[in-house]
Amino acid sequence: SNNPVTARAHTNIALIKYWGKKDDTLIIPYTSSLSLTLDQFYTDTTVQFDASRSTDQLIIDNQISSEQPLHRVSNFLDIVRRKAQINSPAIVNSHNHVPTAAGLASSASAFAALAAAASKAAGLNLTLSELSRLARRGSGSACRSIFGGFAEWQRGEDDLTSYAMPLKAAALLEDIRVVALTVERGPKAISSRQGMHLSVTTSPYYPTWVKTCQTDLTQLKLAIEKNNFAKFGKISELNAMRMHALTLSADPDFTYFNGQTLTIMNLVKQLRHNGVACYYTIDAGPNVKVLCQKASVAKVVDTFSQLLGKQNVIVAKPGPGIQYL
Ligand code: DP6
Repeated sequence: SNNPVTARAHTNIALIKYWGKKDDTLIIPYTSSLSLTLDQFYTDTTVQFDASRSTDQLIIDNQISSEQPLHRVSNFLDIVRRKAQINSPAIVNSHNHVPTAAGLASSASAFAALAAAASKAAGLNLTLSELSRLARRGSGSACRSIFGGFAEWQRGEDDLTSYAMPLKAAALLEDIRVVALTVERGPKAISSRQGMHLSVTTSPYYPTWVKTCQTDLTQLKLAIEKNNFAKFGKISELNAMRMHALTLSADPDFTYFNGQTLTIMNLVKQLRHNGVACYYTIDAGPNVKVLCQKASVAKVVDTFSQLLGKQNVIVAKPGPGIQYL
C-alpha cells in the first residue's frame, strides 16, 4: 500500500453565486462565480490507496460512512484512479473543523481536500488549475476552495476550461470580516444539487439570472479593485437575493429561508440604517453570513449574540488555499 497523504481545505462563501449547471457529471456551470475563502472552517482529509483492500472506505469525523456519501466519494476516486491509471481501493479519513455543530460543514472544503489528498496519494502531480478542475467534479463550489482569499470560477465551456483562479491581492481583503450566524435548521433541506436543477428547469427567470450574474460579477470585481466596501457589500447582497428569487419562482416553489433568516436580514438592514456598513449573503440553507469591516465587527457580533447566543456567532477572516499537512 502507498503512503497516506493529508490535505487541508477551507470553506468558501460565494459573493456571486453559482446556481445552475449544464450537467451533474462534468459540472460545467451556466455562470461564473466569485468567492471568499474563510479561515474558520476547514476539512482535513487523509487518503491512502491500498491494493489489499476490496472496497473504498470512508470515515467522516470518526464515523464509518456508507450509502450516499460513500458512493459520491467512490465515484470521485474513480476519476482520480482513471487519471493515475491505478485501480486500488482507498481509505479516506476526513475531519471537519467547524466551531459549532450545526449546519456549516461544506461540500466545498470536503471535495477540495479530497481532490488534493487523493490526487497526490495516487502519484499525480497536478497544477493548481488542474486541481481546481478535479475538485469541481466532486462539487462545483469546491473548485474555488483550492485558493485563498478571493477566487473566481470562470465557467468555461468544457472540462478543460472550467476552473477557478485567485483574484490578485486586494486591499479590501485586509479589512473584510465575515460574521457567520448559525440558525436552527428546519426539518429537511433541498440539496443545492436538487435546488439548482429545479431552478434551471422551471424558473422563468433563469435566463435573466445568467445575464445578471455577468454584470454583477463585473461590478463586484470593480468594487474590489477600487476598495469600495459599500459597493462590494451591496452587490453581494443583491446577487444572493437574486439567486434566492430563483427558488421562489421555481415550480414547485421552495425557499431556504426560515423565520430567523428573515429576522436577521431585517436586523442587518436596520444596522445599516444606523450607519453600520454590513451586508448579508445566504447559501442553500437558513444560515446567514454578514459581511462587514474590522471596525464594525463588535457591533455586529453584539447585535446577533443577543439574538442567537454567542455560540452561534463566529467571526471569520479571509483564509488560505489548499495545504498539505
Ligand atoms: C448556494 O457546489 O454544493 O453555495 O456542484 O451540485 O455540488 P454541486 O453544488 P454546490 O453548490 C453551491 C451553491 C451555493 C452557491 C455557491 O457556493 O456558489
